[in-house]
Amino acid sequence: MPNLRQLYLQYVGQTSDFSLAFEVAKASGVYLYDTNRKKYFDLNSGISVSSLGHGNPQIKKAIHDQLDRHLHTMVYGEHVQQTQVKFAELLTSQLPEHYESLYYLLTGSEAIEAAMKLAKKRTNRRQIIAAKHAYHGSTQGAESLRSDEAYKQAFYPLLPAIDWISFNEEKDLALITEETAAVIIEPTQAESGVNCAKEGYLKAVQLRCEETGTLFILDEIQTGFGRTGHLFAFQKYGLKPDVICIGKAMGGGLPLAGLIASKDCLSSLMKEPALGHITTFGGHPLSCAAAHASLQFMLDAKVIESVIDKSDAFAELLRHEIVKEVRRDGLLMAVELTKRKYLKHVVSKAHELGAIIDYFLFNDRSFRLAPPLVISEDEIKKACHILQQAFDYSFRKYN
Ligand SMILES: Cc1ncc(COP(=O)(O)O)c(C=O)c1O
Repeated sequence: MPNLRQLYLQYVGQTSDFSLAFEVAKASGVYLYDTNRKKYFDLNSGISVSSLGHGNPQIKKAIHDQLDRHLHTMVYGEHVQQTQVKFAELLTSQLPEHYESLYYLLTGSEAIEAAMKLAKKRTNRRQIIAAKHAYHGSTQGAESLRSDEAYKQAFYPLLPAIDWISFNEEKDLALITEETAAVIIEPTQAESGVNCAKEGYLKAVQLRCEETGTLFILDEIQTGFGRTGHLFAFQKYGLKPDVICIGKAMGGGLPLAGLIASKDCLSSLMKEPALGHITTFGGHPLSCAAAHASLQFMLDAKVIESVIDKSDAFAELLRHEIVKEVRRDGLLMAVELTKRKYLKHVVSKAHELGAIIDYFLFNDRSFRLAPPLVISEDEIKKACHILQQAFDYSFRKYN
């Protein structure tokens, strides 16, 4: 009789031949449990999704209540659904006045697709500029923004008229011109290993966009919903992006994404042609119920206020001779090791000892730490103790 792992490998489509194939039995708080009842610290939050940990009672109740009312009734935009309205109202109430409206979508990649279409439509221009080493998603439009030619070649032809600037290089901003429909950029580049914006850089991008009539689109899919110690990273830089792409933690563990902008800006998707971007499951009622409960909990429990202190605690407790630096934007952190060869040993030893950490897409010297924002001081100490043991082991064995 094949076991679950074998059945998984046989029947479930695989994304690579190096899947972790971790067998999840349950998840609670900051822990994941495998089928042998072994407990692991979840130090990735499913790639910045489970910001309130697992099994938050308020989120579960909101999902159950909505389950009893209704599930899907119609494609996004046709029916008035209470949970969509209430979440959009709550979210926009937390933002500067200019952000009046939330356009619901399903995934982060879809938010990027819709934002690119919106920019072309609104400016009647074609060129889109992204930053090198950014990751904006896996659909063809989002993938076109990736700068790594070698990776992309297998999927050609992708979108034309995409150009790149180097992140944090102000001299490259001259490439943004009156021909540019949009600049799409992350406030902190997540997948290149937490590459934070230099003082004044994002303001300079915004200014150049204003000068050239280019849409300034901020990808807050990974940085949003408190991860950086602010509800959104744009707030700490005092920015006013035209469009903000959101996803990941938005749905409190259920799939949900969207665009935040002014009503006028988003109206470009509804006219000439109407139905400029339609999506069956955008703003699913269950996801919106979970999103509302999640954001309300975050606000009531003042979760975001503790993020910077927790990030400082991690940085303090992760000092070790094989740790070169901890780059961080709140609880989005990259731990860079002194030698590349340590990385896979640290990741696998930490796993064995009960802490789940992960790789980045574009950084082979650093591992990702993006724990639930609700992790306690004591849990941080225990998790870092495991990581210290993994550092010691890798240093002793592979130095
Ligand atoms: C910054 C950023 N943008 C976009 C995406 C794509 O989101 P999704 O995987 O939900 O399509 C990701 C996913 O990791 C991301 O980190």
